[in-house]
Amino acid sequence: MSDIEMEDWAGEIGDRWLMHIDRFESMIGQIGTALLDFAAFKPGERVVDVGCGGGPTTLGIARAVAPGGSVTGIDIAPQLISEAEQRRLAAGQDNCSFVCADAQRADLGAGAFDRLTSRFGVMFFEDSLAAFTNMRGWLKPGGDAVFACWGPPPENTWIALVGQVIGQFAEVPQRDPSGPGPFRFADPQATGAMLEAAGFSDVSFTPHRAEQPLGGAGSSPAEAAGFVLDSLAMRGVLEAQGGVVVARAEAALVEALTPYYRDGSVMMPGMSWFVRARNPG
Ligand SMILES: C[S@@+](CC[C@H](N)C(=O)[O-])C[C@H]1O[C@@H](n2cnc3c(N)ncnc32)[C@H](O)[C@@H]1O
Repeated sequence: MSDIEMEDWAGEIGDRWLMHIDRFESMIGQIGTALLDFAAFKPGERVVDVGCGGGPTTLGIARAVAPGGSVTGIDIAPQLISEAEQRRLAAGQDNCSFVCADAQRADLGAGAFDRLTSRFGVMFFEDSLAAFTNMRGWLKPGGDAVFACWGPPPENTWIALVGQVIGQFAEVPQRDPSGPGPFRFADPQATGAMLEAAGFSDVSFTPHRAEQPLGGAGSSPAEAAGFVLDSLAMRGVLEAQGGVVVARAEAALVEALTPYYRDGSVMMPGMSWFVRARNPG
């Protein structure tokens, strides 16, 4: 499986995110709230939310920048933009709009925004430098980007433990750590250098550590293990080894997750970077 296939957000990956959207969004809900607090959006600001998915952060920002401000969510996956638009209509939020386009290439207008943000939506570009150079052009001089990306896998028990357990039963496909994927910006040095090469200045990295409910709040260890197999696409990796192996791996996952089960959820340590960078103009 190539990285391109693994990151086909307008296709299979986006379908899978949509199918399990409540669980995914619940897992990263706390991080979204903390990111919006960190960014401290103010009434009147014009904001772009990159890789907005089903738009939960976009809708939150729309409330924060009212009155007078507006937010545009951009995402490459039509099925997620359609979900976001339905939610916008249901919420009656009229200072918010959604665009289906590839942020690496899209022209949203020079200097059209005061702020750019993203919760885990900027790690999947074919060419990060080209994408951030393009996106910087959307910001007015002095405008900033504030986004969340995952820290290193060893600090993200929710994925490290899963990899360890599944790895006992099948070979888990390894990604190029610098290619498109969730952990691509885990190294602040490399990410900072890329952002500076894209023309940003005053780049800073603030670690955000929080436990997150694997499989979403209220999932039991068995439900969280099912989520790992189906939503994180591990079932396919195991199925090649036969049905017995799938069952054994699922049982091993349940056992490994049980010590993290607390107050009705499987709470697992995670670490993300809140990155801030300025467009000097
Ligand atoms: C991990 S999801 C996060 C979704 C959303 N930000 C959230 O927190 O609920 C990553 C998102 O990035 C989007 N994405 C990936 N590549 C993109 C690109 N080139 N341009 C715009 N969006 C992209 C995906 O479609 C997906 O919705």
